[in-house]
Amino acid sequence: MSGSIKETECLVIGTGIAGSICALVAARQGVRVTLLTKRSDPFITNTNLAQGGIAYRGENDSPELFKKDIIRAGRGINSIEAVEFLVENGPAIVEELLIKGLHVEFTPLRRAEVEGFDFAQEGAHSVKRILHSADCTGKVIEKALIAALERQENVEVITGATCIDLITLQHHSKDIQARYVLKDRCLGAYVFMEEKREVDVILAQYTVLATGGLGDIYLHTTNEKGTVGDGIVMAKRAGARILNMEFVQFHPTSLYLPGKRRFLISEAVRGEGARLKNLSGEYFMDKYNPQFKDLAPRDEVTAAIWMEMIKNKEEYVLLDVANHVNGNVQERFPTIFRTCKDAGIDITREPIPVVPAAHFLCGGIHVDTRGRTTLEGLYAVGEVSCTGLHGANRLASTSLLEGLTWGCFAAKDIAERIHSGETVKEKTMRSIREWIPAGELENEDPALIAQDWMVIKHTMWNYVGIVRSSQRLKRAIRDLRHMYSRVEDFYKETAVSKDIISLFHGLQSAILVAEAAQRNRRSIGCHRLSNSFTQIKI
Ligand code: SIN
Repeated sequence: MSGSIKETECLVIGTGIAGSICALVAARQGVRVTLLTKRSDPFITNTNLAQGGIAYRGENDSPELFKKDIIRAGRGINSIEAVEFLVENGPAIVEELLIKGLHVEFTPLRRAEVEGFDFAQEGAHSVKRILHSADCTGKVIEKALIAALERQENVEVITGATCIDLITLQHHSKDIQARYVLKDRCLGAYVFMEEKREVDVILAQYTVLATGGLGDIYLHTTNEKGTVGDGIVMAKRAGARILNMEFVQFHPTSLYLPGKRRFLISEAVRGEGARLKNLSGEYFMDKYNPQFKDLAPRDEVTAAIWMEMIKNKEEYVLLDVANHVNGNVQERFPTIFRTCKDAGIDITREPIPVVPAAHFLCGGIHVDTRGRTTLEGLYAVGEVSCTGLHGANRLASTSLLEGLTWGCFAAKDIAERIHSGETVKEKTMRSIREWIPAGELENEDPALIAQDWMVIKHTMWNYVGIVRSSQRLKRAIRDLRHMYSRVEDFYKETAVSKDIISLFHGLQSAILVAEAAQRNRRSIGCHRLSNSFTQIKI
């Protein structure tokens, strides 16, 4: 089971926008980078699924206005330092790296005689400031990044590589004295290589977690399969600080097709005029937020939909595109148009049945503006991190911007440290032990794993979902902890595999969210508490 030992200067885990840009910028600065993904293709990421766009700077816009919007959506519990850092630096990085550097094709203004971009509107933005590439912005950016990485020297991309644990001095050195160092340090990761079914030791001067969020621990999500919070729980076990885990954002609109995985219906559709109505035909958002209506912050729109579904005993609401969006819907939203068409819905004629779904984690591994975590040598960028930017509720189209900005600054910081000789001694690296397999039993049973996942996903959806109560949270924690004691035993005696690692990590993530939700008695943003015991069946 123990595989090879490998050394690199910078180990980046995750190939979405944050990890890819970090790897690219670091390699361009002469750093040797190893970039890992547990998936079979680096392209398979949540970034690839991002539809709406990336916030930039619109007409009549200013950093001050952007800051106000982020903080209003975040319910005022944002890190002011992180917000100011993003609004000051983010748009310039978009321009330098994406527009001028990688020539990402954002949709231009439709009026051919005027140069510029077709800025989109999304919820809670005071002005149109979102760059988009039709409705597949993430895909276009991800393609450009992966292509640039393929051309770049100094980067090795490894697929089918699932991280099991971060390596730290205190936990994994063979040198007895290392356990007494006061400040622990991350030195890479133990990685399960799917093809050879061995665990490699990847030693790194600096390790960057860019593994994304945890939407797939919920029954309904817009996320890529297998997005279960790996990075967060590994960082937690290694001793890094984790923050704001109760703030799981539910996107208001995903396509409702009973029995089918949810598909995102971008907020940009409402930005173009589409309106939400209940099955009686009432456009209900005016009632909940008379100022922003259908373009209210996400937490409010999600809660409003939930209320309507409860009140009217309905399993979904409707998004009316046909009567409210002018222009060529098929050209503006080709992915959404095609997906709905394949499901038998012509959105130019009939409304789309929609429901909320788990979408984005506003919390995660606490980092500063360079992406440094509280554990020396460990960085976190993108959704896995908690920069504090989003507070209790993320403003639309700021996730790609956050990933890009922090990925870039983390890379620069790492390059600077490596070039100035802030590195770990060879002897320390050599003291790290090989992976010691916990168990060798080949007793993995897919039926048991599938059942455990069903329990986790239902528990999270029903008890730690859109609306929470202390009673539900108490039950969730008790059930999840009970399951954990069983799964931990199984994990310890069974030969390691991708599915078992995923279950172990997903369950730990679920417990972190449920416990954080129980600790926070204040109903705010995405953490909505209620004493009402009604529940929607979706
Ligand atoms: C969307 O297109 O609605 C999603 C964009 C985001 O998550 O910010």
